[in-house]
Amino acid sequence: MIETVKREVKLLSVSDKSELSSADAELLDSAKKALNGAYAPYSKFHVAAAVLLENGVVVKGSNQENMAYPSGLCAERVAIFSASANYPGVAVKAISVTARTDEFKLEHPVMCCGACLQSVSEYEKRYGNQIRMILQGESGPIYIAEGTQTFLPFQFDGESLKKE
Ligand code: THU
Repeated sequence: MIETVKREVKLLSVSDKSELSSADAELLDSAKKALNGAYAPYSKFHVAAAVLLENGVVVKGSNQENMAYPSGLCAERVAIFSASANYPGVAVKAISVTARTDEFKLEHPVMCCGACLQSVSEYEKRYGNQIRMILQGESGPIYIAEGTQTFLPFQFDGESLKKE
């Protein structure tokens, strides 16, 4: 028997920042400012993230590459791990991610990699809320998603670690 398992996902796309709430627009601006901190001499692909915490604090991060390539880390994880390390016990409300490259004009949102989605999802489970995601390239459409499930609908969760 073939069983089809479906998960419904809702992804909102707007064409201009003026269509965002002021909180989302500010978080996207913070992510764009954080691009300055990216260290991407190898890929030349600059990625930045801004994490909004329940207490209103915004923690920024950007990708940090290394000449031993796998030792580098993505922007989203730099930001969310830093938030968790510096503000232990404070829930995460939203994350905004942006990118730019020296090679061409990035006119579409950059999707978070699977490892980053899994890492962000940990904090959704930890604090029991979805983390709103606001994504944009240098320009072009802005994607808004109400949680990591939108992009990673079949994610690993702690239940799998338990003996049935
Ligand atoms: N990168 C991120 O920072 N976030 C992602 O979700 C995907 C990729 C970085 C890693 C590397 O420094 C560069 O983008 C090119 O892959």
